[in-house]
Amino acid sequence: MPSTKATLAWALSFAPSTFAAAVPVKRATSSVVSGAPVGFASGATGGGDATPVYPTTIADLKKYLTSKDPQVIVIDGQYNFVGSEGTQKEQACNAYQCTPENGGQALLNTVNGCTTATYDVEIDTAAYQGIQVQSHKTLVGKNGATLNVLTPTALPGKGLRLVSVSSIIIQNLKITNLNPEYVWGGDAISLSNTSDVWIDHVETSLTGRQHYSFGVDPNHYVTISNSFVNGATKHSATCDAHTYWGEEMVGTDDSITWFRNYVYKTSGRSPALSGGTLLHAVNNVFEDNAGHLVEGGGAGARGIFEGNVFKDIGTTVDAGFQGKMFGATAGNAGECQTALGRGCEANEFSNASGLDRADTGFFKDFNGFSIVGAGSVQSIRDEVPKGAGATL
Ligand SMILES: *[C@@H]1O[C@H](CO)[C@@H](O)[C@H](O)[C@H]1NC(C)=O
Ligand SMILES: *[C@@H]1O[C@H](CO)[C@@H](O)[C@H](O)[C@H]1NC(C)=O
Repeated sequence: MPSTKATLAWALSFAPSTFAAAVPVKRATSSVVSGAPVGFASGATGGGDATPVYPTTIADLKKYLTSKDPQVIVIDGQYNFVGSEGTQKEQACNAYQCTPENGGQALLNTVNGCTTATYDVEIDTAAYQGIQVQSHKTLVGKNGATLNVLTPTALPGKGLRLVSVSSIIIQNLKITNLNPEYVWGGDAISLSNTSDVWIDHVETSLTGRQHYSFGVDPNHYVTISNSFVNGATKHSATCDAHTYWGEEMVGTDDSITWFRNYVYKTSGRSPALSGGTLLHAVNNVFEDNAGHLVEGGGAGARGIFEGNVFKDIGTTVDAGFQGKMFGATAGNAGECQTALGRGCEANEFSNASGLDRADTGFFKDFNGFSIVGAGSVQSIRDEVPKGAGATL
């Protein structure tokens, strides 16, 4: 076992620029994966170096994702789940200003949330509940063999559920069309009691409920990077073509790096930063928000926001927010040293209210986590919206 020093010298001799970005030495991930995980999920290896499999049907894709074996799964093209499990009858009610017929959503009575008259609706069963992904999986979307045909892999009508699992890598795919008319109709990616999860270059759109839903049971070492939360919808709970259901971060002890994501056309929960979540939100672009971005009623939630661009945002932080937060400015950026081992990058606001919170009492909680490097807002402002989503 070489000493840390010797390993460092070895790494520097081969890849000085990579090492300068503070990437720790890692176990092998499959060569079908582009790049390597950064931030809190730096240790994620997914299916490791298992021989890749190439499912061509939704049945095979499901089989591989739910098997007990480590798998590296490469998908290519569209996997259309809509209608594949039939439909089911549910109760719904009109809980918002507008109904599905005029740009809104109805609320399914899934958790008995209806306080007004309910009526029967028929929903798509496949979208209602995602695929229960098992541990040690890598799922990577690839473009067609013809290089100039850009048809990023999409899963219409099916989300992914990561529950009580560890080491998952999901890269370069789209998840869309999950009963968007109905709240509770379908989450794109839900996580509960997980660890070492890296989600990269994923586009989520037209969800019934959350783009990302973190359950109460803790999710340790999660990184979501280069992903496109596409909130544009014809079915908006806020009746304005923006989705309310962005990222629900409410776990009791979650650690999440939220890096270089493009959060577009939302009106709430972007994120809901609550529970006992520790969040590092860095180099994201938040654009065109019709309501509020950050909300959350949990006093134990903590977040550093640095190097982000906030553009055309109704309200950056909801007045009811109860957690602790640090928004980096040119003036206070140096204080991050004790949390991140480096200074922060300042956030940028354009037609957006500031993120005027500078709590530092929680900085010690970043101890022991891998911290991703940050670029300046100038360097990421145009790049992030272009590169986010299934663009590899
Ligand atoms: C959490 O997941 C682990 C497996 O990773 C399992 O053993 C444990 O029972 C789960 N805990 C809960 C509360 O579901
Ligand atoms: C500023 O942002 C708000 C909220 O997204 C938007 O409605 C408004 O049109 C923006 N104003 C300009 C001048 O772009």
